[in-house]
Amino acid sequence: MYNARMSESPSSTDRERLTIRQPDDWHVHLRDGALLQAVVAHTARPFARAIVMPNLKPPITTVAQAQAYRARILTALEASAGAAAAAAFTPLMTAYLTETTAPEELERGFEDGVFTAAKLYPAGATTNSDAGVRDLAHITPVISCMERIGMPLLIHGEVTDPAVDIFDREAVFIERQLQPLLQRHPGLKVVLEHITTRDAVQFVEAAPANVGATITPHHLHINRNALFQGGLRPDFYCLPVAKREQHRLALRGAAISGNPKFFLGTDSAPHPRNAKESSCGCAGIYNAPYAIESYAEVFSQENALERLEDFASCFGPRFYGLPLNEGTITLERREAAPEEAGLPALLELANGTDQPSRLVPFHAGEQLSWRLT
Ligand code: NCD
Ligand code: ZN
Repeated sequence: MYNARMSESPSSTDRERLTIRQPDDWHVHLRDGALLQAVVAHTARPFARAIVMPNLKPPITTVAQAQAYRARILTALEASAGAAAAAAFTPLMTAYLTETTAPEELERGFEDGVFTAAKLYPAGATTNSDAGVRDLAHITPVISCMERIGMPLLIHGEVTDPAVDIFDREAVFIERQLQPLLQRHPGLKVVLEHITTRDAVQFVEAAPANVGATITPHHLHINRNALFQGGLRPDFYCLPVAKREQHRLALRGAAISGNPKFFLGTDSAPHPRNAKESSCGCAGIYNAPYAIESYAEVFSQENALERLEDFASCFGPRFYGLPLNEGTITLERREAAPEEAGLPALLELANGTDQPSRLVPFHAGEQLSWRLT
């Protein structure tokens, strides 16, 4: 439905195909209720599994909440894309760490296969992070437990100190929080989520094998200029905020490097249009509708398409200790026709309610040269 029109009789010269093992999304916000139902099929279209972020209101902190949320995700997917789509998609649930999280609850959820990982939000760092952790020292028993049982800690790596410049918050987090944390817990499995800086790339490269990172499509495409191009552009505002060009280039280098520590995590984070276009607009870029195409564009531009499968489909499961997917997806390349309109600029939420009902996806109005068949 969202594909641009194909040319009438494509010749073999204007088409190329790329078949890869089915990918997973190692960081996504699926939301809840009507918004969940509107967005979940976009993630389930190319991805077999997804690490689902727990920053709902209230946050997902218990095993029972995670089980109930997982069931709502699958129900919403069945309602929007059918039973076969729901049967083919596995949401991997995460626990939202608070300063009152009990290690026993995490361990029980992990051992029972309900929690795949736990997410650390520094309190106040991003959307729905108020219930997060103010001081890592307050959750030492939880971290020790995770280190012992091999449960991955997924980190939103930004300091919240208002005195620190927003463009430096990731680098300062690494220095002030992450390095000392890993010194205290050298066996802890850590994913530094949605990295945005060369500092993060270098840190992860130098760290031992228990430290990995996800990279979003938008941070591979845009630098901070996108936020201000011709005016204020809320659709390009997310956290961590996009940085300077040199950082985008470092992220591109990491993504195509073949280094198994770097893998796909979209951080697709939908907010209805009126919540983005506001005097205090929400952080988050909704990239799920064209996410795999967006990554393919980057790898193609970098002449590294042969590395896309490792980044999208192999390095994530290996880091998490999960089997690789058996299925495949096929992407098709085609030259953009100048008369064609770009990708749809708005997706309607058919929610049957009076809730805000439109979403603007990343790449709206643009042409991408790779499409999922
Ligand atoms: C995310 C959201 O909206 O939930 N927003 C974002 O800008 N990435 C939260 C997050 O991952 O920081
Ligand atoms: Zn996120």
